[in-house]
Amino acid sequence: MSLFSVLSLRGVELRNRIVVSPMCQYSCLERDGMANDWHLVHLGALARGGSALVFTEATAVEPCGRTAAVDLGLWDDRQIEPLQAVSRFIRRQGAVPGIQLAHAGRKAATVLSTMVERPGDRWTPVGPSPLAFGDKPVPSELDRDGIGRVVQAFSHATRRARDAGFEVVEIHAAHGYLVHQFLSPVSNRRTDAYGGSFQGRCRLLLEVVDAVRSVWPDDHPVFVRVSATDWVPSGGWDIDQSVELARLLGGASQNCGARQHPFFPISAHPA
Ligand SMILES: Cc1cc2nc3c(=O)[nH]c(=O)nc-3n(C[C@H](O)[C@H](O)[C@H](O)COP(=O)(O)O)c2cc1C
Repeated sequence: MSLFSVLSLRGVELRNRIVVSPMCQYSCLERDGMANDWHLVHLGALARGGSALVFTEATAVEPCGRTAAVDLGLWDDRQIEPLQAVSRFIRRQGAVPGIQLAHAGRKAATVLSTMVERPGDRWTPVGPSPLAFGDKPVPSELDRDGIGRVVQAFSHATRRARDAGFEVVEIHAAHGYLVHQFLSPVSNRRTDAYGGSFQGRCRLLLEVVDAVRSVWPDDHPVFVRVSATDWVPSGGWDIDQSVELARLLGGASQNCGARQHPFFPISAHPA
């Protein structure tokens, strides 16, 4: 095995072991979540460079799940066609197009210094518990219907990703975004079935994985990206729980890919 040897993941063949990680571009300047020339050129150039698998940035499954109003989205059928152009170009360069599906939860609605703020760029985010992230607004606590809506949103976005020609889908369960917020006792203080125990905190992710798997072709891989540790002295998500989660995911999704960065500390506080 070498960096330049072929890797098969289910029915998808990667020409080498080089994967371009998802990278937010904050370039949907119309706030419509639509891919545009920027995404085509940015991701297309990375595919041209010889990588085997090129991921889009975190792509929001519903508008309130955008990290910022200028994120890419896949909550509407109209967003399929422009993304299709991106995936087609990536494939024509010999690379595999991948998409990361995401919900920012309590970390949504950031107004970046590079944005010229418009009405609607700030909204009250949602989260597992009414605990604010840094100086962001206190999120609305998701009730059971709200959780069901999020799971459905991942499922619908996955169907759209499939129709847009992507071959790998990654569920963003890392970096303090919504799914990670449910996993971690730091941000999840729920006392219902979606909080408390390890099983409870993992429930949302497992439901999302099942929903995604049920509409994603069997011969295409589902990845789950996690932060292997909250890097807090005690009481947070840690390596042991990540290992246990990987075991659960292996059963739930029949071979989810897992990419973890156990050696890179992730600050528990806003950057
Ligand atoms: C500009 C930028 C945007 C990023 N956006 C995302 C993202 O949308 N989703 C994600 O999971 N990680 C995101 N990341 C993290 C990267 O995917 C990657 O994990 C990080 O840069 C470390 O990569 P390295 O281990 O190759 O240095 C972003 C990183 C950068 C620099």
